[in-house]
Formats: sequence, structure tokens, C-alpha cells
Amino acid sequence: MTQDELKKAVGQAAVDFIKDKLEENSVIGVGTGSTANCFIDALAAYKDRFDGAVASSEATAKRLKDHGIPVYDLNAVGELEFYIDGADESNHLLHLIKGGGAALTREKIVAAASKTFICIADQSKLVDTLGAFPLPVEVIPMARSYVARELVKLGGDPVYRAGVTTDNGNVILDVHNMRITDPVALELAINNIVGVVTNGLFAARPADVLLLGTSEGVKTLKAE
Ligand code: 5RP
Repeated sequence: MTQDELKKAVGQAAVDFIKDKLEENSVIGVGTGSTANCFIDALAAYKDRFDGAVASSEATAKRLKDHGIPVYDLNAVGELEFYIDGADESNHLLHLIKGGGAALTREKIVAAASKTFICIADQSKLVDTLGAFPLPVEVIPMARSYVARELVKLGGDPVYRAGVTTDNGNVILDVHNMRITDPVALELAINNIVGVVTNGLFAARPADVLLLGTSEGVKTLKAE
């Protein structure tokens, strides 16, 4: 199977996972990226079974609305039943690196506001140790150089993602060459740098379930 076929398979698997648990008043959180897009496209067939969604980016809000799925502001709804999103990497504890699509801050907020975080990914994303994928860090623009120097002190090589402004008006530093053996500690350490809005480690609040697309079918992984 191609990577695109695996993404479609996990998008459908996430719909199958939640569809019988949805209620008329359910609002679900929806992530960003090509795998999340596959989920949205599969979800559209069930749009009459639930109330609507909270989007983690402007791009996702548009795709949901294009399918006729109502999009709510997070402040207008209570706790979300599910959050479904892709990832750039996952380890076996379901600690994630996210933010390849620069939506990490809103993704982390919507994940935090959700009871169950279902991560959907193709098999290429499962790794033993996080860090081969450069870790995205969203930064207030005036703090960019300062934050970059602090990230170097933590052992990384930050690279400014030129030409990208997040939905929140900030910039992204991608931190290369980090072998992340303690994702929870590193997430906290980076969050403590003044000027950092969010970093792409989702370890303090990992995924609850990983639906992994493999050539043998979709596997359901829970944190080991
Ligand atoms: C966006 C993300 C995405 O979930 C991540 O980049 C994976 O994207 P894709 O499903 O396109 O591989 O974190 O900020």
C-alpha cells in the first residue's frame, strides 16, 4: 500500500472507532495535516450523527465547513469527547512530535480539552526514540534569536522556518539533531524558555490510542 492509502485507511479507522460513540450533541476536536484531512473526508458521511467540530487550524476549519460540518469556537463548547489528529513521529508510549504543519499550538490546546486523543498515522511515523523529525517550536517573533540560543544550550540545532507564519501570528523554529530520550522533561524545559508559545512534543499529554496504518492493516496501539 502507498503512504496515501495508509493515511486513508487510518482516517476511516478513526471514524469507525468513534462513530457509534457519537451523540447528537457531541462536538469533536479535529487536527491538521494530510492524515487529518483523510479523517475529515471519511467523517463527512456521518455528519448527521453529531453536532460539530472544533478545528485546530484555519485550514481544517475550511475543510470541515466545505463538507457541511459546523465548526465551533473552543470557548463556546465544553470538554470534547474525542480529538483526532496525525503526528510527525510517535514512540511506543504514544509521546508525539507534532507541528510539521505549523498548527501545534492550537492542536495542543484542543488535545488538552479532549477526553480521548486518537492519533492516526502511517507506519513510517512509529519510532523507538523521538527526534529524527526536527522538533517544531512556535515562538513570539521578537524572541526568535534569544529562543534559538537557548535551544542550542539544550543541545539542538534550531532552524528558522522561513516564510511561515502560524495561525497565531508567530514563527517556527525547527530543532534538528535532538535525540529525545526524556520527552516529558524536554517538553517542560522548552516550555520554560521565555518567548516560546508551544513546542511540538506531546508527551505530558500523550495520545491515548494510536491507529497505525501498516501493510498488514490498521493496528490499534495503546501506551505501553
Ligand atoms: C500539523 C501536524 C500534523 O499532524 C503532522 O505534521 C502530520 O502531518 P501529516 O498527516 O500530513 O503527515 O502536527 O501541525
